Amino acid sequence: MKFNELTVNSSRLWESLMEMAEIGKAPENGVSRPALSKEDGKARDLLTEWIKPFVDEMMVDEVGNMFFIKQGTKSDLPIVLSGSHLDPQLHGGRFDGVLGVLAVLEVLRTLHENQILLDHGFGLVNWSNEEEARFCPAMGSAVFSGKLSSEQVLDCRASDGSHYGTCLKQIGYAGNQLPSSLKVKAYLELHIEQGPVLENESLDIGVVTGAQGQMTMDVTLQGVAGHAGTVPMRLRADALACASEIISQCRSILLKKEDGVMTVGTMDVEPNSRSTIPSKVVFGMDIRNPHSESLEQLKNQFTEAISSISQKHHCTNNVEIRSFKPPTEFDDSCIEVIESAAKKLQYGYKRMPSGAFHDACMVNEIIPTGMIFTPCLNGVSHHPSEYASQEQLFKGANTLLHSLSELCRK
Ligand code: GLV
Ligand code: MN
Ligand code: MN
Repeated sequence: MKFNELTVNSSRLWESLMEMAEIGKAPENGVSRPALSKEDGKARDLLTEWIKPFVDEMMVDEVGNMFFIKQGTKSDLPIVLSGSHLDPQLHGGRFDGVLGVLAVLEVLRTLHENQILLDHGFGLVNWSNEEEARFCPAMGSAVFSGKLSSEQVLDCRASDGSHYGTCLKQIGYAGNQLPSSLKVKAYLELHIEQGPVLENESLDIGVVTGAQGQMTMDVTLQGVAGHAGTVPMRLRADALACASEIISQCRSILLKKEDGVMTVGTMDVEPNSRSTIPSKVVFGMDIRNPHSESLEQLKNQFTEAISSISQKHHCTNNVEIRSFKPPTEFDDSCIEVIESAAKKLQYGYKRMPSGAFHDACMVNEIIPTGMIFTPCLNGVSHHPSEYASQEQLFKGANTLLHSLSELCRK
């Protein structure tokens, strides 16, 4: 068979994805496998067991990033790295992140059974805690790229008080081999789009040009509890009424901009009783924009709105910025390699930006990086109903196979 016609094994990739989704299986095809939980440990063990026959070296760094390296025929050349993350959102789906890890495993299996040797070494990486759904800020790829120190990540605490370093030890993935010993030529990541664009345009592949920036913050509002029937409206310090006005005001500020999105996806209300005035509210906000200056401006405008609306409601407020990730532009040569692979395979593709943040955005800070998107059903992600068909994933993995092989040859 000519190399140009080589494809991955579609059903093997699908079966691996489905088997991995059994770990932390939740209702309605969901997956609950938080970073550094017992289930995350099992997922890492299964990946290690699967990949062992196809690699020469395995390394785990201090924050739990896992690297598996297959040597190339020219050992002095830098390696090409690819991967993603095995942790889903707290109640996430079967594809976000996992696809980018298991597709590289499938590429390694395909190269092995076809006895194809590449000049450059080739590595799979499973980044620790990408979603930051449990520990924030604590992306493993941020440590690799020098954006966070390993101490910052190891000392990070989840909202239930769990300690990153302790949980990592408990699952047996507290390593010590620093990846700085790795010389990396390029990094590629395959991911579901997590949005509706490719599906709407009936395209197979997104050649990702960059990603918008993201800021997350937690807002705490303190009011005063009281009986729902006895305290006159004008005398209340109702933390939930205050929160709803803040959210609606921030939305109006954002809607006046040309681009960007904001989401309030978590809210804790105390005492959470129908007939008691809410005394305390904590809500989590996610703000995204393709321009750094706009993100900075939104941060200032939102903080001002929070302060003035809190005063009006006789509440106090505290704003904690949890993470700030600037927008990303991927490497031109990686973009071109991916585009040529999609063209060669005769897939429908387009260049597009990513609405979501990815490990690739962190890695791009220090290594030439590119990303490949596959469509997903109704653009839904971060939810149990997240779905991409076997055929869509097959095309994504083939594009990855040919892009990686090209980079490993050049
Ligand atoms: C990553 O999962 C993101 O929320 O952008
Ligand atoms: Mn992801
Ligand atoms: Mn995600």
